[in-house]
Amino acid sequence: MRFTDSPVVELPVRDAVLSIQQDNGSMHVGTTVWPCSLVLVKFVERWRTRTSSTDPNPYAAALDFTNKRAVEIGAGCGVASMGLHLLGLHDVVVTDIAPVMPALKRNLKRNKSVLGKSLKTAQLYWTKPDQINALSPPFDLVIATDVVYIEESVGPLISAMEALVGDGRCPARLPNPVSGGSPAVLGALLPGF
Ligand SMILES: C[S@@+](CC[C@H](N)C(=O)[O-])C[C@H]1O[C@@H](n2cnc3c(N)ncnc32)[C@H](O)[C@@H]1O
Repeated sequence: MRFTDSPVVELPVRDAVLSIQQDNGSMHVGTTVWPCSLVLVKFVERWRTRTSSTDPNPYAAALDFTNKRAVEIGAGCGVASMGLHLLGLHDVVVTDIAPVMPALKRNLKRNKSVLGKSLKTAQLYWTKPDQINALSPPFDLVIATDVVYIEESVGPLISAMEALVGDGRCPARLPNPVSGGSPAVLGALLPGF
C-alpha cells in the first residue's frame, strides 16, 4: 500500500490530535477515512459530558462508557475506536477484513503515543462465526461507521451484530448525519432499533 500519496487526516479530540494516514488508491474502501467516523467522534465528544437539569441529555446512557466492553467492525483506519478511546472507551477491540489490517495497524501504531496504549485488533469477516466467537461475545457496544453501502451486506452485518451483542439484544444506534440512509435500513430490519 502507498500511504504517502493521500492526504493525512487530522482529528482533534479534546486536547489531543489523531493523525491518520490513508491510501485512497487501494482497491479496499477501508484504507480511506470515511466521514461518518469523524462525525461519530465529534458527536460523542460533544454529547458525552453534556448535562443540564432543564434539558436532559438523551444520549447519556448510550455514551456512558463505564465498564463497557466494545468491538468495532469494519473499522478501516480505526478512527472511531481511536477517538472513542480518547473519550473514555477503554476496552475496545478493533476489527476489519484481512487486506485492511495493515492500514488499521499502521494507524493504531502511528497514534500510540496519543492513545497511551496499543488498542487490541482482530480480523473479523461478518460472515465468519468462528471469528466472531473467537472474540468472546457478548459485547456491550458494537461500533460501526459507514459500513453499509451495498444492500447484500446488510443481512450479514445484522447477523454479525446480533451475535456480537448476544442475548437477543439489539445494538443501539446513534444518528448518522452523513450517510443518512444506513440507520434507516438497519432500523427497518431490526425491530425495536
Ligand atoms: C466504507 S469503509 C468504512 C471504514 C471506517 N469504518 C470508516 O468509517 O472510515 C467500510 C468498511 O467495512 C468493511 N467491511 C465491508 N464488508 C465487510 C464484511 N463482510 N466483513 C467485515 N468487514 C467488512 C470494509 O473492509 C471497510 O473497512
